[in-house]
Amino acid sequence: MMGCITDFFTYGTTKSVVVKSWTVGIINRVVQLLIIIYFIGWVFLHEKAYQVRDTAIESSVMTKVKGFGVYNNRLLDVADYVTPTQGSSVFCIITKLITTENQSEIKYRCNIDEDCQKDTGKAGGNGVLTGRCVSFNSSLRTCEIKGWCPAEIDYIKTEPMMEVENFTIFIKNSIRFPLFNFTKGNFLPTITAEYIKKCNFDPVNNTYCPIFRVGDVVQFAHQNFSNLAHKGGVIGIKIGWMCDLDQSDDSCNPTYSFTRLDAVSQKNSVSPGYNFRYAKYYKMENGTEYRTLLKAYAIRFDVLVNGNAGKFNMIPTLINMVAAFTSVGVGAEQYKAKKFEEVSESQIRSSVSHSNGLYRNSCSQLSVKQDEKMSSDSGAFSIGQ
Ligand SMILES: *[C@@H]1O[C@H](CO)[C@@H](O)[C@H](O)[C@H]1NC(C)=O
Ligand SMILES: *[C@@H]1O[C@H](CO)[C@@H](O)[C@H](O)[C@H]1NC(C)=O
Ligand SMILES: *[C@@H]1O[C@H](CO)[C@@H](O)[C@H](O)[C@H]1NC(C)=O
Ligand SMILES: *[C@@H]1O[C@H](CO)[C@@H](O)[C@H](O)[C@H]1NC(C)=O
Ligand SMILES: *[C@@H]1O[C@H](CO)[C@@H](O)[C@H](O)[C@H]1NC(C)=O
Ligand SMILES: *[C@@H]1O[C@H](CO)[C@@H](O)[C@H](O)[C@H]1NC(C)=O
Ligand SMILES: *[C@@H]1O[C@H](CO)[C@@H](O)[C@H](O)[C@H]1NC(C)=O
Repeated sequence: MMGCITDFFTYGTTKSVVVKSWTVGIINRVVQLLIIIYFIGWVFLHEKAYQVRDTAIESSVMTKVKGFGVYNNRLLDVADYVTPTQGSSVFCIITKLITTENQSEIKYRCNIDEDCQKDTGKAGGNGVLTGRCVSFNSSLRTCEIKGWCPAEIDYIKTEPMMEVENFTIFIKNSIRFPLFNFTKGNFLPTITAEYIKKCNFDPVNNTYCPIFRVGDVVQFAHQNFSNLAHKGGVIGIKIGWMCDLDQSDDSCNPTYSFTRLDAVSQKNSVSPGYNFRYAKYYKMENGTEYRTLLKAYAIRFDVLVNGNAGKFNMIPTLINMVAAFTSVGVGAEQYKAKKFEEVSESQIRSSVSHSNGLYRNSCSQLSVKQDEKMSSDSGAFSIGQ
């Protein structure tokens, strides 16, 4: 009863200790310095946290290919080897063609097959089964197939058009960052008509020339041109716009990089490379429709545009500064907590007996555990990271 009353009339308060120790003071300041360096160096200078960022780049790409090639004793120009012809950001340059002339749609008997069910699909790539069984010769009856004849023979070896290596691709790219209403094109103001007539892009001397030699592009993408021309493939031309709009407009420039986009099909033995078929149709005098079937092996170019722009803005600056100051403050708090633990138990005991047992109850809270100290140490540091 008496104990309860005395407990009720006691008063508890904390007593702060100013540690006049060089080590403790230096560590305290070093931790704060590290946090400040991290915020200034990485968050503000490197990551530009004081800027608001626009990643929704708007872009248009126009392309034009130039060059003449000779294939199968025929002169080919842009209209023959580029498809589609609109000059979009994705286009193909045909390097190899397998032509099957004078195909007409007829019913023929290529397969010898007793089973003439329509849905067996035995006709393979040649056409569809009509479901009728017709006599092939006096002793044999076969399935009738409806398809384009004569059938294509695509396993013949042909040489690709090697002149493609010297063709040039002209790329006109215009971009806009809608958040800042900032517009720019890959034709820099420094480029003259004179220069454009004879320049070719290279990453050292002509970094802003918008004309690319096909052979160079393939080489920059670390590919072998003759292999690529034989089997076909997809090459990406990437245009990057990383702009800091706090600086002058002249420092917002495109960077070009090149890569093979279908790297998987390159190693794939089932379907290597890139090819497609298309047909040209015509009519004979007597009215029958004929077509020329073309199987084209092509190098496809995909022009990919990406980028972002940043500009100073008060809101992210304030938010990040508050975060920085808070972190320095938290670091100091953590360190203060740690200093308490660093005082050894015997010291606390003596200090406690000195102050007439005022801290009897807090004694157990102040006891030191070495591993706990270590973990709180690293915990304090990771907040700064
Ligand atoms: C295709 O037809 C035309 C006209 O009938 C003929 O001159 C040409 O030789 C034919 N081509 C082939 C490969 O049969
Ligand atoms: C019918 O054609 C088949 C396959 O070409 C052949 O083996 C067979 O000898 C032919 N029969 C006659 C009677 O010509
Ligand atoms: C490409 O052009 C160069 C120089 O104009 C020439 O030496 C080379 O033979 C050409 N390559 C092809 C495949 O035509
Ligand atoms: C964007 O800038 C152009 C001129 O550079 C100006 O004519 C146009 O009005 C601006 N648009 C907006 C929405 O500010
Ligand atoms: C760039 O120009 C220098 C000097 O004109 C030349 O030596 C160098 O080979 C050029 N580099 C390329 C990649 O063309
Ligand atoms: C490309 O590959 C072909 C055949 O695989 C080879 O003969 C040729 O030397 C290669 N070219 C380059 C530039 O590596
Ligand atoms: C049309 O003429 C071609 C030869 O030029 C011939 O093979 C074909 O049978 C004719 N078609 C018709 C419907 O007469």
